Amino acid sequence: MTESFESLISGIDLKRLPRHVAMIMDGNGRWAKTRGLPRSAGHSEGVATVRRVTEFSSDLGIKYLTLYAFSTENWNRPQQEVDTLMYLIGWAIEKELPDLLRNNVRIHLIGDIQRIPEEARNKLLNCAAATSHCTGLQLSMCLSYSSRWEITRAASLIAKDALNGNLSPDEISEEVFNSYLHTAQTENIPDVDLLIRTGGEVRISNFLLWQLAYAELFFSPLLWPEFSKADYAEAIRDFQNRERRFGKTGDQVNQQSSMSDT
Ligand code: FPP
Repeated sequence: MTESFESLISGIDLKRLPRHVAMIMDGNGRWAKTRGLPRSAGHSEGVATVRRVTEFSSDLGIKYLTLYAFSTENWNRPQQEVDTLMYLIGWAIEKELPDLLRNNVRIHLIGDIQRIPEEARNKLLNCAAATSHCTGLQLSMCLSYSSRWEITRAASLIAKDALNGNLSPDEISEEVFNSYLHTAQTENIPDVDLLIRTGGEVRISNFLLWQLAYAELFFSPLLWPEFSKADYAEAIRDFQNRERRFGKTGDQVNQQSSMSDT
């Protein structure tokens, strides 16, 4: 029997939700291998988890969810696996479009989208365009993405603007640099509050390095296809038990929060 939404969210303070949750979906291959199945079966099962975390984020009222669906480094996987993943991503996004629209979920594409094979790319672009009016959950798919790619691209765009006289080197602040990142250019996506990585590895793997500067990190030993709504809820409760200091002292943070309560 599946748990009700009310019991899943018990203990979660709905007024202190993370604004932006990002996820590294790891463990599909191992999930399949332990069952004697091809890796592609793990990716297919992984799509069901994408659906679960999207639905739960939307029901909870989380504003931004960003998923690491395919990294720049993933292009180096066996061609057959790359082809399967591209097919699966295109198929899933097309199939889910009516539900995304019904739930007011907007799709954003982050990464070097031109590298995605045409058929999958068209389905992704079509979904992004069709949901562009949606104001609920802002769901970003990072595809052919790596943070170093994004930061290098930003540096190149800044250099071009400086050369053509649109930007003076003295104007390059953190805020200005941020505005050249793909996440900012796509939808002014804010910094990540909570990063969840499944699959037992404890690393960031070239994902949103700039945007994760003050994120709380949650590493789950579960493989991505196993990750349930209850596991997601646990990560949010864990997030809410952390003290986010942003470089300040604990006393300063406590003082600030008691002032904002009044
Ligand atoms: C990592 O697991 C997972 C990926 C490289 C792909 C994730 C993609 C999906 C779940 C499908 C996404 C679908 C949509 C609609 C975005 P792994 O293969 O590295 O697992 P392993 O570490 O066990 O080998």
